[in-house]
Amino acid sequence: MHLLCYFFTVCFTISGTSLLQARLEHWDWRAVDLNAITLPSIMGTSVSEYQVSGAHNCPHSNWAHWEGKKIHNGRPTIQGNDWSGSACNFWHSCYQDIALIKQLGCNSFRFSIEWSNIEPQEGQFCQEAINHYRDFCVGLRHAGIEPMITLHHFTHPHWFEQKGGFANAENIHYFVRFCERVFTQLSSQVTLWCTINEIGPFVFQGYIQGVFPPGLSGDLWTALNVMRTMMQAHCAVYKALKALPGGDKAQIGLVHQYLTIESHTTSYMQPALQMLGTYAAGATLWSMWASLVPKTTKFRTSWALGVAALGALNPVERIPAWFMTYIFNDALMHFLKTGTVFPFIPGLRLTIADGRDCCDFIGLNFYSRVVIESRLIAYVLSGGVGECAFPHCRQGELMTDMEYGVCPEGLYAAIKDMSQFGKPIYITENGVADKHDDIRALWIKRYLYAVSKALADGYDVRGYYYWSLMDNFEWDRGYGQRFGLYEVDRITQQRRLRHSAQCYAEAIERQR
Ligand code: BGC
Repeated sequence: MHLLCYFFTVCFTISGTSLLQARLEHWDWRAVDLNAITLPSIMGTSVSEYQVSGAHNCPHSNWAHWEGKKIHNGRPTIQGNDWSGSACNFWHSCYQDIALIKQLGCNSFRFSIEWSNIEPQEGQFCQEAINHYRDFCVGLRHAGIEPMITLHHFTHPHWFEQKGGFANAENIHYFVRFCERVFTQLSSQVTLWCTINEIGPFVFQGYIQGVFPPGLSGDLWTALNVMRTMMQAHCAVYKALKALPGGDKAQIGLVHQYLTIESHTTSYMQPALQMLGTYAAGATLWSMWASLVPKTTKFRTSWALGVAALGALNPVERIPAWFMTYIFNDALMHFLKTGTVFPFIPGLRLTIADGRDCCDFIGLNFYSRVVIESRLIAYVLSGGVGECAFPHCRQGELMTDMEYGVCPEGLYAAIKDMSQFGKPIYITENGVADKHDDIRALWIKRYLYAVSKALADGYDVRGYYYWSLMDNFEWDRGYGQRFGLYEVDRITQQRRLRHSAQCYAEAIERQR
């Protein structure tokens, strides 16, 4: 009985949490004037080096090595046996590509520094690679575009991975050393610095799903350890850079993808009715069963209740939703709020001195939120064929190619939530995978409206960066997802402005 009570409490807490998360505002778009908007003073686009330069141009990175394996745990490392190759060859064309950014009217550009090109072997720094980035920053500034640098965007040198990467807290000093070197040489050109991009997704994909290097599946303990080390690493870098000449003028932040995962079942009535229905069915089945096998009434009741609760709570949706939201979102949010990592997990709890103050701004990446719908009954009836839970979207929402809905209200809610830390916010990524370019214009208009509404309501949003400048390598998904304002022909390397991108350019133009 004890165990059952415990079980109910856990299930109802999970259920309650996901029900609360599901309650987003809904705006009546017919009543909204999408042209009457005010934008932040910084408007840009975003890329990461590996995604636009590929394994050819970053041969010493953990990702080049990972892709080189081709197969991992019996499945291709990149969907469709794709591989990044030289991607958009940005490493060589970045100077010319400045004109593309300029054409959009952007006054800032966010990109990452490829650590594996700067330090291909442990302790051997490549001055040419540092010069490459310095010249690029000079070129950007010359064009009136402010650089924003990310020091870690999912990739690092292969040698660092072999040493255990961020799974080993003793490796933090390697990352700090690299960051200091880059900062010392580029800080005269760069004010905006992001330490690490998206700790939650990096860890989930690499240590739980096994689709990013190092490809561990379900290794929860290591995953949590890596998260903890990365939070420590962020703070160590922040403090180290602040102590360097120019550190006082630099704005240094951490980039977090605000991502919640919701169960498709949202209303309070639905689980209640489901609960009653399942209870009745469970109780009937139980009494039929109990007439064959005598048991005490108490035991029968608790079993019937257990069956009812399970059915009502829809665990196939709610448990993964709760778990993933914790890894993707809540663990980091808690750290940003308190400076303490994993307060309730014995053996992992850590309070980082001044942890809460290690950000001059928050980088907010926001795409959407994921809705999971279970089709458990169909799954069971089919004898376990296919998936028993699917990504879905809410009624009235449009599904993007990445299998989540267009949800600008979610961006507004994320800004609101992240404002609790009292730091300025830069929306460092927001964009849509839309191969046919039929919803990108709507996406841009509505999400910019959300930003404008946040500004009007007094939230301190300093910048917005559309993801991405051009179509690029979408990690384990290869080239299937097209996020670019520019379409890229990978054979000729021609860049073509997408029709929808005009919307972005026009919105920026209207503010000037
Ligand atoms: C990552 C990008 C990625 C984008 C679109 C973000 O989580 O930072 O690297 O391309 O999502 O999926």
